[in-house]
Amino acid sequence: MRFSLYTAPVALVTAAALFAQPQAGVESRVEQLLARMTLEEKIGQMSQSTAMSAPISDNIKAEIRAGRWGSFLNAGSPADRAEAQRIATTESRLRIPLLFGRDVIHGYKTIFPIPLGQAASWDPGIVEQMAQQAAREASAEGIRWTFAPMMDIARDPRWGRVAESLGEDPYLSGTLAAAMVRGFQGSSLSDAASIAACAKHFAAYGAAEAGRDYNSAWIPEILLREVYLPPFRAAREAGVASFMTSFNTLNGIPATGNRFLLRQILREEWHYDGLVVSDYEAVTEMIKHGFARDAAGAAKKALAAGVDMEMVSTSYFEQLRSLVEHGAVSIGEIDGAVRNILRLKFRLGLFEQKIPAPVEVVPNASSLELAERAAAESMVLLKNEANLLPLIDAVRTVAVIGPLADSAMDQMGTWSMDARPETVETPLAAFRRLLGADRVRYAPGLRNSRDQSTDAFAAAVSAARSADAVVLFLGEESILSGEARSRAFLDLPGAQQALIDAVHATGKPVVAVIMAGRPLTFHDAAAKAGAVVYAWHPGDRGGPAIAKLLLGQYEPSGRLPITFPRTVGQVPIYYSHLNTGRAASEKELGIPMGNPANPEGYTSKYIDVDFTPEYPFGFGLSYTTLEYSAIALSSPVLETGQSITVSADIANRGTRAATETVQCYIRVVVASVAQPVRKLTSFQRVLLKPGERRTVRFTVSPKDLAFYDEHMKLVTEPGRIQVWIAPDAARGVGAEFELR
Ligand code: NOJ
Repeated sequence: MRFSLYTAPVALVTAAALFAQPQAGVESRVEQLLARMTLEEKIGQMSQSTAMSAPISDNIKAEIRAGRWGSFLNAGSPADRAEAQRIATTESRLRIPLLFGRDVIHGYKTIFPIPLGQAASWDPGIVEQMAQQAAREASAEGIRWTFAPMMDIARDPRWGRVAESLGEDPYLSGTLAAAMVRGFQGSSLSDAASIAACAKHFAAYGAAEAGRDYNSAWIPEILLREVYLPPFRAAREAGVASFMTSFNTLNGIPATGNRFLLRQILREEWHYDGLVVSDYEAVTEMIKHGFARDAAGAAKKALAAGVDMEMVSTSYFEQLRSLVEHGAVSIGEIDGAVRNILRLKFRLGLFEQKIPAPVEVVPNASSLELAERAAAESMVLLKNEANLLPLIDAVRTVAVIGPLADSAMDQMGTWSMDARPETVETPLAAFRRLLGADRVRYAPGLRNSRDQSTDAFAAAVSAARSADAVVLFLGEESILSGEARSRAFLDLPGAQQALIDAVHATGKPVVAVIMAGRPLTFHDAAAKAGAVVYAWHPGDRGGPAIAKLLLGQYEPSGRLPITFPRTVGQVPIYYSHLNTGRAASEKELGIPMGNPANPEGYTSKYIDVDFTPEYPFGFGLSYTTLEYSAIALSSPVLETGQSITVSADIANRGTRAATETVQCYIRVVVASVAQPVRKLTSFQRVLLKPGERRTVRFTVSPKDLAFYDEHMKLVTEPGRIQVWIAPDAARGVGAEFELR
């Protein structure tokens, strides 16, 4: 699979031609409706509320009848939504349907792995299937708009919403975000089982200063264009129906009032005609940012920037009429916003749609089977000393220990408001089912991941002693990641390190399974475990996925979508950095963690920890050994307008099958703007049977080598290009060619 994120908006193709979509029917319907609307009705369409209690109050019913609201979010039961829609489409003057939005982030009723876990699958196919299943479930309950995917590049694991991100890399994030858009929106938005996707948060929300949620982002335009915007561009190319602004300021200007982002980039360069919604109260938060004097100023600035719909705060409703009357806002600006909203409602087929009879959807066998497979694909094997895993016949009894072994809601992660705990199978339950209860000893050790008390350690130690091997479930509870859940420490919280110390002291082999919403730092815990599996927050079927993976019924295939630091002090740490004039070298490795040494060399490193990460981007092991060799190029020279093929042999040297994610990286060695030491340009998931050897090929063309020059033009420059075919960002077999 290949997907170019580095296509020029201006230089290489005419974007207007690329994005032109015949919408004639829709456009004329939009115009006809718009011509009949009063200013109040227009402003109503531009307003989105949460205020829809169950049952719907008479007040809200009256407001819907009066055309006061265009959309509701995260509100109501299926029956309430059906009733509200009935009122809007039969009792309001113009019968304009409501649009119900919801945060359907990693599944609706069936909860799949958190987005960061989905990203670890590096599998756009399964990511698309999950989004499609979520769309089926949500649409059946009257929800036709989700606030996903989130594609904010995240290079700071302190930020709690890294859990909802697709990781650090623009290419991987863009590829997976596009897959989600396809899954949610299906082949046609007007299909009753499709829901509109929303590319969020535009833009740079993941670059919050010091990882503190909602904080300022300072990003030079060149970095914005190289790293932060490409996933949004990919979603746009995939036809995403809406965009959401972000809470943060970008270079001092709130994203919600940012004409550069919302007008220049989104509308002018990308020719976007979808709907732009603000984030939750982000319009009036521009007052607190110090960017607008009052609600009127905030409404004016948001609309001028291009926010079509205001989420939750009510400055549009309260201020726009008088702003129009005073000539501060033109009716043309209002009409532009309403067009974008109506266009989406027509595209979704809402005007034609019969109001579905209210139903409560529950996960079914096939959605749960998908959830289990996806969870298995998301897991990353980080260590497997002496082939401790899979746990095979010699292991008769297993001690299942740890605060996350049997906590249904904590394996769901952030955004699981629609989860149904009764459909969850925890790891403990799965081990008991698969092995038989008599082969499983259980002791939680700690009440939850933050628990400081060692009172229950004795029971955990005795469970460990009584078993052949220990599976220790560590990490973070659900509530420790997600929105407003930034952390300054990335260590295992509570007394979890002490728990692994105590269990390790029994001498029993320990498999650590870490469930978390972010990369944690767990160097000492990993040192005491024979094997480590990173399981993220794996969702409903995390339990069976983990148990079966540990028992060898699934092969581990996940790869890290984000660099794992050794310690929080290394943050931000990411693979695609510049080289500096004084790069540290491998010879300088071996610095003891946390203890200042006096190493030689004036190089870019730390004196109290190695400069390399704990685990690099792209990393993950299999239950077999894979060998990369024989890199070859179809030509030593790449001419403009041509492409070359890079190939390498991958051999499975072991006795088990593996799905290897083969990654292709490039480096532009010399350029007018210094380029990163590596950049991912494509990847392939390849199944290798035991003993099998395969030649894997990638095509590299000049657009893979394009970068933004100092005038913000996407260019290619002749010169040396390095290329690697690699198992991760730190290794691989490399070659060099010339771009002419
Ligand atoms: C705020 C979050 O930032 C956004 O992602 C979400 O969609 C809205 N709240 C609605 O819940």
